[in-house]
Amino acid sequence: MMPKRNLLSINDLSIKEINRILMKANKLLQKKNIKALSKSLSGKNIINLFFEDSTRTLTSFELAGKQLGASVINMSVATSSIKKGESLIDTAMTLNAMSPDLLILRHNMSGVPYLLSEKVNCAVINAGDGSNEHPTQALLDALTIKRSKRKFSGLEVAIIGDVLHSRVARSNIYLLNKLGASIRVICPPTLLPPDIEGLKVRVCKNMEKGLKGVDIIMVLRIQKERMEGSYVPSEREFFKFWGLDRKKLNLANKNALVMHPGPINRGVEIDSDVADDIGRSLILEQVKLGVAIRMAVINDLIKHK
Ligand code: NCD
Repeated sequence: MMPKRNLLSINDLSIKEINRILMKANKLLQKKNIKALSKSLSGKNIINLFFEDSTRTLTSFELAGKQLGASVINMSVATSSIKKGESLIDTAMTLNAMSPDLLILRHNMSGVPYLLSEKVNCAVINAGDGSNEHPTQALLDALTIKRSKRKFSGLEVAIIGDVLHSRVARSNIYLLNKLGASIRVICPPTLLPPDIEGLKVRVCKNMEKGLKGVDIIMVLRIQKERMEGSYVPSEREFFKFWGLDRKKLNLANKNALVMHPGPINRGVEIDSDVADDIGRSLILEQVKLGVAIRMAVINDLIKHK
């Protein structure tokens, strides 16, 4: 039997594996290549276990699994026995007893996918754990960058806003560093992670200065659900200093492109004028590429099991 493989962190992947996933996903953007794989996971069972709300990640994993021919079950906490007091581990053991091939997990606590992966026999994908990581988001972001800018080395990427609470930022920092891009984070001091020094990024506490020379701007959602107390004075004030509008975008390089993992808060971290500018905004492209990335990852993890 093949050893069990999980995708819990970007650090689980070598540069070679990352490039292979990006290439495979890129091929899956063509209908004929999807067709060739359409039955490859027939007879496999995937459970999406989401303890946090999600639109694009959940739908994208479901579509990806179904396009590969697997059976996909979506379990939300609202309708599970967690509501009746069952513990997380008991829920996982119960699902494990039904022998799924893959568990895709989202949870508001960092580290939960690690814990569960040790208790179950199937492969586990981390679909976002608290403020820790969201590896498939970083992979789809990397594919989006690769398709639009054709390179990582020498590319200047700015990650702006609520870096402290963002699993998307952390996974992207790990991944973009591996791929050779140069990363700066631009945010107020209150939204800077305490371990930022170890993350190999430049820190800018001023938007105007920070955006100079940037090729890719990744805007993050303000994670109100992870904030206790006030990290920002008010949404209006945040938008004024840290929200990306046309004027601030014009400070970056001429062909700078804008990304956001979604869901976007219009008028808080990004202005509609920028978010909806199809010449500059890659937001919907990110969503589109997400399905291909998840097909590539799922197929890799459970094809031979
Ligand atoms: C992100 C998440 O859930 O971490 N969304 C997503 O997966 N596309 C970002 C966010 O919620 O802000």
